[in-house]
Amino acid sequence: MTPKHFKRYLVTSALPYANGPLHLGHLAGVYVPSDIYVRYLRQRGREVISICGSDEHGVPITLKARNEGISPQEVVNRYHELNKKAFRDFGISFDIYSRTSNRIHYETASEIFKTLYDKDVFVEKTSEQYYDEEAATFLADRYITGTCPHCGNPGAYGDQCEQCGTSLSPTDLINPVSTISGSQPVLKETRHWYLPLDRYEPWLRQWILEQHREWKPNVYGQCKSWLDQGLQPRAVSRDLDWGIPVPVENSEGKVLYVWFDAPIGYISATKELTPDWEKYWKDKETRLVHFIGKDNIVFHCIIFPTILKAEGSYILPDNVPANEFLNLENDKISTSRNWAVWLHEYLEDFPGKQDVLRYVLCANAPENKDNDFTWKDFQSRNNNELVAILGNFVNRTIVLTHKYFDGIVPEITALTGQDKAVLEEISTIASGVEQSLELFRFREAVQKAMDLARLGNKYLAETEPWKVIKTDAERVRTILNISLQITANLTLLLDPFLPFSMEKLRGFIQFEGRSWELIGTPDLLKAGHMLGKASLLFEKIEDEQIQAQLDKLMKNRTENGETEQLPAPKEEITFDDFTRMDLRSGTILEAEKVPKTKKLIKMVVDLGFEQRTIVSGIAEYYEAETLPGKKVTVLANLTPRTIRGIESKGMILLSENPEGTLHFVEPSAEAKNGAAIN
Ligand code: 2FM
Ligand code: ZN
Repeated sequence: MTPKHFKRYLVTSALPYANGPLHLGHLAGVYVPSDIYVRYLRQRGREVISICGSDEHGVPITLKARNEGISPQEVVNRYHELNKKAFRDFGISFDIYSRTSNRIHYETASEIFKTLYDKDVFVEKTSEQYYDEEAATFLADRYITGTCPHCGNPGAYGDQCEQCGTSLSPTDLINPVSTISGSQPVLKETRHWYLPLDRYEPWLRQWILEQHREWKPNVYGQCKSWLDQGLQPRAVSRDLDWGIPVPVENSEGKVLYVWFDAPIGYISATKELTPDWEKYWKDKETRLVHFIGKDNIVFHCIIFPTILKAEGSYILPDNVPANEFLNLENDKISTSRNWAVWLHEYLEDFPGKQDVLRYVLCANAPENKDNDFTWKDFQSRNNNELVAILGNFVNRTIVLTHKYFDGIVPEITALTGQDKAVLEEISTIASGVEQSLELFRFREAVQKAMDLARLGNKYLAETEPWKVIKTDAERVRTILNISLQITANLTLLLDPFLPFSMEKLRGFIQFEGRSWELIGTPDLLKAGHMLGKASLLFEKIEDEQIQAQLDKLMKNRTENGETEQLPAPKEEITFDDFTRMDLRSGTILEAEKVPKTKKLIKMVVDLGFEQRTIVSGIAEYYEAETLPGKKVTVLANLTPRTIRGIESKGMILLSENPEGTLHFVEPSAEAKNGAAIN
């Protein structure tokens, strides 16, 4: 398949909200894939720009400001700088990282709104919305809390109940309260401008469902489902005091809806970057690609294209490779619960290891379904892939060249069939990588690129230069020459994925080539070329480092009052295994603390058919005196054990409470002593 060729590329990455730091879910879903894509295009010599910036409007930012007692501008200033730095630190190579509080953005967004307004695109509608009379302001959905009509959660928000997950509208809430003044809001009429998506539905169906069947199934599927449900007009203004003022008369107190202005931020940022911005946005030969997460699909595939279409002079996205979500250790990433790996903290704990994270997030990207990041997988991909495959190959090649040939690239003396096959394989691997990249299959692409390192390792293992050197030094010249060619090709092929390490590797071999077209060409490193000084490309990550990360996460969880991590599931057992356990209901008759122990209590338990002595470590949770009369579940056929000189016959079942205490698993009140529990 030859990929369609475009004259130039305009690549955008979702503008993250400037109301919190970035975590690895952001990188995995949007920024690592977009960066790989643009680095690849640059390497191919294509005309490309990569656009991003901070999304600085929206209610969550005003809420955060209010909670912290600072202005929204202060909130966004703080996170804009922090996030800009985090991207730079991870080598995310945007051509510009702009922000939507810039003047140029205000002008651009206002202009587009005005054009649509003048063209009579909008529908103006009046509706009733909650108003806080004390604070004299209309309330955004998030500023209203109340009781969820579905689950009774008293702290549901006006747009969603976070307990049961239902989306709500403010009027659904029982006993609504304004979070600004604490007063009860009243309904009041307000007028807004609506984008009549319904009128654009036939066009959208045609454009997406007919002309963009190649979009990823998760993206196409979500669009289809929106379209099949029927589109409604959508309000593009809000009653808020933070945002871009609606640029028409009689619009006091009204600002543009954040999702109206944010995607226009891509245009403003391009204007800021280059006076030649129009060729990127208005020339049909430009390929516009939006990298986003799945929660942004409707905005980038339906709403923003409708705005652009209505405006009339802009191109539309050619593809929107949205990813699904990344979970962390089997749980949803959550800022409020601090269940996340923050990028700036990662760099403190793993300095210089940006590429390891880039690699793991790409190899395990949530491309077609939600995926899970685990620290164990991170460790094993580093140790078993980056260290054992890539690092090992280049290290052996460079070390042997220094050892046998003083670091000078030896010449090819004669090529065997195997040598020729290996050299040919380089181009084959590269075309595989290209194909995957053109289709936005980044997981596949990085695996294919790593195949070149696998090939190199296999070649060394089969040709064994360290043995052959004793008998045939000429042959070793050829072997190492080929291994060095593979190494040079690796720097080209892996550069989009591992930019920091490939820069290092280029230094090790003193290779300056950058162009993708060089891949597979003969003699990238000429005989006689002198290699540079080398060190290890990747280091092993030890168990303790991984445990420290897991402990840190668990600590957050405990500090949040959440339960400790649950024990790992046990191995499956058969029904027979289960029936071999003789579980019975019993009643404690007597109980006394075992002297000189902290935890043990000795009990006599009535099991109906006999009375048993059982010793159990429950003194921290129960006073012995309170126990007689309590009903318990007993594993009756456990091999007797002698504990502190007392023979204990059976075991009392206990369940664990969140705070780590243990409680009896009680049979029902009517169960007779000795009754079976199955
Ligand atoms: O979901 C988000 O983080 C949004 N701030 C993305 C905006 S993308 C674009 F429209 F600016
Ligand atoms: Zn609810």
